[in-house]
Amino acid sequence: MKRSGLQVLFSVRKLSTSSLRNSAVHPATIPEKPETFYHRDLEIIRATAAQMMKKPESLDGLKFGHSFSDHMMEADWDHEKGWSHPVVSPLHDFKMHPGAKVLHYAIELFEGMKAYRGVDNKIRIFRPDKNMERMRRTAARAALPDFDAEELIKIMCDLVKIDKEWVPYSSTGSLYVRPTLIGTDPTLGVADSHQAKLFVLTGPAGAYYPTGFKPVSLLADPEFVRAFPGGVGAFKMGCNYAPTILIGKMAAGMGCQQVLWLYDNDEKLTEVGTMNIFVLWKNEQGELELVTPPLSDGLILPGVTRDSLIDIAKSWNEFKVTERYPTMEDIKRGIKEKRVLQIFGAGTACVVSPVGRILYKNKKTHEYEELLIPTMESQPNVMQRLYDTIIDIQYGRIDYPGWTRVVA
Ligand code: COI
Repeated sequence: MKRSGLQVLFSVRKLSTSSLRNSAVHPATIPEKPETFYHRDLEIIRATAAQMMKKPESLDGLKFGHSFSDHMMEADWDHEKGWSHPVVSPLHDFKMHPGAKVLHYAIELFEGMKAYRGVDNKIRIFRPDKNMERMRRTAARAALPDFDAEELIKIMCDLVKIDKEWVPYSSTGSLYVRPTLIGTDPTLGVADSHQAKLFVLTGPAGAYYPTGFKPVSLLADPEFVRAFPGGVGAFKMGCNYAPTILIGKMAAGMGCQQVLWLYDNDEKLTEVGTMNIFVLWKNEQGELELVTPPLSDGLILPGVTRDSLIDIAKSWNEFKVTERYPTMEDIKRGIKEKRVLQIFGAGTACVVSPVGRILYKNKKTHEYEELLIPTMESQPNVMQRLYDTIIDIQYGRIDYPGWTRVVA
């Protein structure tokens, strides 16, 4: 049947809005068989003895992200040629055109994961499939090229294996793995990048808590938001982090180590610093409940640690685990009624980060209110138990099928 021009236009419109919703923004529809590079094509150029770097003598005082291992991985993409073959080679600088889109429009995304040397001396990575799923969804949202998750996981396992001596011999240290994807197209048009580079760096990370947990203070100023509906808060893009730096500095100037990100007039608690947030309280019905904000409105980064803690807590079946937003009003009332037991951040870097104090700026009075959280004293100490469980899985003391992959 012949279709009129208007009918065609209408169907094209319909197609383009739904495909945008489904493939670019909506996480659910990354293709099953994307165009990709392959592990079987991996070229390995090993560092010479002269190129090899000195490993840090001790993990004590090693600052996060200051030390890198000998090798890195790269693959380049071009919209006409597709992906190049992947290469592992000695860590090196990039030569990049100063007009590259990443440098102007922040067309960039990254992931953070870790490899652990277990008590059996086997090296494991933790839930890489979750990171890769998020990376592919973020790539779709950033209009950057897709790839096959399993191919990158196999390549990263080889990268970690090549630098396995960089994985700390320690039951608290780890090798941080940083996959990154950038738009390298050397043109200034605000458009999708016709060229891209995927690369992976690794580097040793020390214990986050060498001398036990240290509770942090949070600055909660409702004037600043991290994410908003329709934005990219649920995606791990560098552009989500850049605007938070100044507020973090402001917080530090007020004696706070992290920012508590609030959202909307009812001041929902969304995230803490670069982490997801958890609240353990007796709810208004008197039930013990672990609460964390939901993923349903696109404000919250779907953290792998967040997902793992929810799963572990649910598997205990001892208290309620709920995905919903606590508001500042809920927290203030809960503290007054002694129902707030623990507040903690959760992320790859530290697993959990206890919160001891919130410096809250009341938006009506513009005065600061100090809220003290008994995270370190409360019983049951759910935070500690969650931390111990996840650490035991990561270091191979507990087998949690499907969550770790042995690299070497
Ligand atoms: C994490 O702790 O999970 C992070 O993403 C921190 C990273 C941005 C350094």
